[in-house]
Amino acid sequence: MRVPAEARVDLGAIGHNIGVLRRHAGGAEVMAMVKAEAYGHGLVEAARAALAGGASWLGVAKLAEALRLRDAGLTVRTLVCLGVPGEPYEEAVARGVDMTVGAVWLLEEIVRAAERAGREARIHLKADTGMSRGGARGAGWEALVDAALKAEATGHVRVAGVMSHFACADEPGHPSIAAQVGAFTEMVAHAEKAGARFEVRHIANSAAALTLPEARFDLVRPGIATYGLTPVPSLGEFGLRPAMTLVADAALVKRVPAGSGVSYGHTYHTERETTLAVVPVGYGDGIPRQGSNVLEVLAGGRRRTIAGRVCMDQFVVDLGDDPFAAGDEIILFGPGDRGEPTAREWAEALGTISYEIVTRIGARVPRAYPGGGL
Ligand SMILES: Cc1ncc(COP(=O)(O)O)c(C=O)c1O
Repeated sequence: MRVPAEARVDLGAIGHNIGVLRRHAGGAEVMAMVKAEAYGHGLVEAARAALAGGASWLGVAKLAEALRLRDAGLTVRTLVCLGVPGEPYEEAVARGVDMTVGAVWLLEEIVRAAERAGREARIHLKADTGMSRGGARGAGWEALVDAALKAEATGHVRVAGVMSHFACADEPGHPSIAAQVGAFTEMVAHAEKAGARFEVRHIANSAAALTLPEARFDLVRPGIATYGLTPVPSLGEFGLRPAMTLVADAALVKRVPAGSGVSYGHTYHTERETTLAVVPVGYGDGIPRQGSNVLEVLAGGRRRTIAGRVCMDQFVVDLGDDPFAAGDEIILFGPGDRGEPTAREWAEALGTISYEIVTRIGARVPRAYPGGGL
């Protein structure tokens, strides 16, 4: 069936990108971060592609995402990074999902869940080394380590890992980077002195995995680089290949006279008689409305700027006198091979990051896997 728009995901590119990351990771294992629908690429398919490429762990933000991976038959080690009170931790334990624990209340909930499940829970302690988001620091870290080791002694919990997260790894030389590596090293040493025997210590996101050998530890957790988008634009592309190409077929093509106001608010007027094409995706599909009169797309072999406002379901491009017909394909962004913009270019034009461009492409846009899924 023909669809008005689709996000084509090159699973081979995901495998290639994991290969690039593994080469940078030295001997460290790779946890592919597949949270938020694998940054919009499709949770299960992207996870399979990352594993085929050599990732040996999966990382998600929410427990529900991990359970979907289990439902799909993926039994690989999977870490949930964000827990809130009252989630079904018993199911997490029963299904062998690793949980990140940055607070004693969560540890206590998981211990109770492990008791009920009659099975040991695997946890990773989260150290706040300077991001001031999740995790424990100072006296809170000491208390968390102490409580976790006591729980481990009862046999309900295995303290399998210790982790943290960088605030500024995408800004090479930022003083917080060395400070966070130093704090992590000290916090890990404190826990090990107290008796912790970690299987994996991890702090590196994509930027750190690609640029900071001292931050690799036992495992790296790349997200954006898995999908082929550079985490540090100032340092280039690292040989990564963008996996997502967003395409739409023109819904309608028509000639309009000079001086026609286009779309809501008439923020664009045709300069002369011209051909307009209606592209059937809008902000309801995740196309940023701030992209009105700003973002470029590839239509009829040439770049064209979106003409007028992006609407909920559609936007317009002005093709001048070039031949174009309803049903002809427009490439919104992709790897750039055919002259189309990249997600990075869209992000830079809007003052945001490529993460947001690919992740926000909505559920109404089907994901397609040319060459088949894995
Ligand atoms: C805990 C954690 N680890 C790793 C990542 C991956 O980050 P990136 O996409 O920058 O590689 C994220 C994403 O924000 C995260 O929250």
